[in-house]
Amino acid sequence: MFVCICNAVSDQQIADAVKAGARDIEDVQEILMVSTACGTCRQTAEAVIANTLLETAAGRSRPMHANDIANLVYAA
Ligand code: FES
Repeated sequence: MFVCICNAVSDQQIADAVKAGARDIEDVQEILMVSTACGTCRQTAEAVIANTLLETAAGRSRPMHANDIANLVYAA
């Protein structure tokens, strides 16, 4: 589904960006330009980022670092 209509960015593209290393809305904006026009998609984009970070964290083989947890809290 499209999250950002202005820039034609889908939830899958945002999730892929997070899986590739993006950790917050600013990272995703640099990659996909999401939420850089009207901004109405920002909350949904942040929710996709947070959910993807949680899914990624759940699949990790190493223990979470304090910075990882902080990133999840601030991304939510
Ligand atoms: S819908 Fe994303 S910037 Fe307008």
